[in-house]
Amino acid sequence: MIKLIKVKNYNEVSKKAFEIMKEVLDKKTVTLGLATGSSPIGLYERMVDSYNKNEISFKDVTTFNLDEYIGLDVNHPESYSSFMNRNLFSKVDINKNNINLPKNGSDSKLSEEYEDLLSNHQIDLQLLGIGSNGHIGFNEPGTSFDSLTHIVDLNESTIQDNARFFDNDISKVPTQARSMGLATIMKSKKILLIATSENKAQAIYDMIHGEVTIDCPASILQNHPDVTVIVDEDAAKLI
Ligand code: GLP
Repeated sequence: MIKLIKVKNYNEVSKKAFEIMKEVLDKKTVTLGLATGSSPIGLYERMVDSYNKNEISFKDVTTFNLDEYIGLDVNHPESYSSFMNRNLFSKVDINKNNINLPKNGSDSKLSEEYEDLLSNHQIDLQLLGIGSNGHIGFNEPGTSFDSLTHIVDLNESTIQDNARFFDNDISKVPTQARSMGLATIMKSKKILLIATSENKAQAIYDMIHGEVTIDCPASILQNHPDVTVIVDEDAAKLI
């Protein structure tokens, strides 16, 4: 079931998302599924602020990130590993051994290893953004609903959307990524999806009101028992 929360702007989305995140973090020993992109940055800032005020701790938190580019050095500033260190991990008391991200190598065994690791945990809260084409993680339209962690060829539209992180030069954007699959994401106890801006409006409409179809990967969330979607006015334009 999808619970929809509409708020005014990015700042309000981050604020509301933090309230939900905090309820989970208050349980202390938790496993979080984390996302990258512009959408979660405001939420991560609030998590860091709250940690600095001694309200929350990450000592007993384990994290699994959704995805990582293939072939991009982990130390590249736009690798998702660097993104997470910059925006969250380096700023809080998380134990480095409890941080998990998909590996950037092209061997398919690395996907199985990540899935094995995940199968020993249940994600208490999976944070998601959404691509303008309805992707979650890097599960592009057409991805099987049964998919586990796998290597993905990125769509032209995703490469274009992400070029802004690579000097607006599409030739610098990696063409493949490793992503948790849709079935992996669906195993999470609770899912929180956040989206802002008008270019997400169609994907948000299709996810909530459209047919459950692999053409809109996020529509699979209609089949999950506990999903909260927080959107700003622009992303909610069509609903
Ligand atoms: C990328 C990520 C997704 C993310 C999406 C939206 O493609 N792999 O996990 O949700 O972009 O990003 P943004 O929040 O920057 O719009």
